[in-house]
Amino acid sequence: MIEQVLDEVSTVTDAAVAEIVACDELATLDAVVSRHRSKKSGLGAIKSRLGSLDQVEDRKRAGAAVNEAYTRIEQAVEERRAVLADAAINATIDAEAMDLTEHRRPSTRGHLHLVTQAWERLEDVFVGLGFTVAEGPEVETDWHNFEALNMSEGHPARGEFDTLFVDHVPPGGTPGATLLRTHTSPVQIRTMLTSEPPIYVIAPGRVFRRDTPDATHMPVFHQIEGLVIDRGISMADLAGTIEAFTKEFFGAGFTSRLRPSYFPFTEPSAEFDIRRPDGSWLELGGCGMVHPEVLRAGGIDPEEWSGFAFGFGIDRMAVMRHQVADIRDMYSNDIRFIEQF
Ligand code: DAH
Repeated sequence: MIEQVLDEVSTVTDAAVAEIVACDELATLDAVVSRHRSKKSGLGAIKSRLGSLDQVEDRKRAGAAVNEAYTRIEQAVEERRAVLADAAINATIDAEAMDLTEHRRPSTRGHLHLVTQAWERLEDVFVGLGFTVAEGPEVETDWHNFEALNMSEGHPARGEFDTLFVDHVPPGGTPGATLLRTHTSPVQIRTMLTSEPPIYVIAPGRVFRRDTPDATHMPVFHQIEGLVIDRGISMADLAGTIEAFTKEFFGAGFTSRLRPSYFPFTEPSAEFDIRRPDGSWLELGGCGMVHPEVLRAGGIDPEEWSGFAFGFGIDRMAVMRHQVADIRDMYSNDIRFIEQF
């Protein structure tokens, strides 16, 4: 009889513990607990029947077993309650968490202007050919911009340069002789006056002309000048340099040619064209052997030294490279245009 009661206690207890462990919410656990504590529960029923055991010993054993069973159940409840409470806290934390790695539109980084890109690439290529970079002022004297370049007052070539004058007379200077440089060629003069040959320089920079903007002209644009002064420099060195530059800058499929032309500051003078892989020719700039008068103005003896010079537009390079239809677009600062390059 007692054995049967003890069996019943352990069966009822096992079932209660299994039920407790299976609870996955605090609320269900509470309900299960109060059911097991009630007098009508399995253990409650057993307890109320203990009096019917004949032997005192048996009643004691059975009573102890029931108490132990209650303890086991309470323990199981406490353990389960702790687990469920932890889970509840974690769920709250998860629900309230803020994702600080929240995805945003990647911030856009700007890039260099098309003209700056062309300017820097030109510098890279010429520096690779052994040139250094020279600079001169954007506000120039008439002497540096024209006179020293073999264009005295009244020289017809001055008419080609629609000059913007600056209302400024330097100490000891003549009124009307200060201007915005119309080309980068005055940097040739400044370089010759401040350095000893041999000279191998390029001078990229901003230049100004009194032009109305249209698809191919801007009153402010950019040129790059080249100047080489050394012993025994010939037209062949000029042609070779232009060719090396063409291949390096445009690609192996491009070649160049010189076409006779006229500039006051070079003699002989030429225009240089590049030949695209499709066979078409494109005029790029002017060049020639530095005129003896220009060497003299730069303080260099034409009997001892000779040299060549060249100059061309940087903006045109950018326009060509990116097939920009209207040069004004490059200066409109319209982000929809600028962003494309
Ligand atoms: N300065 C000329 C211009 O703006 C370009 C030029 C032609 C530069 C011949 C040179 C040169 O150095 O040799 O039209």
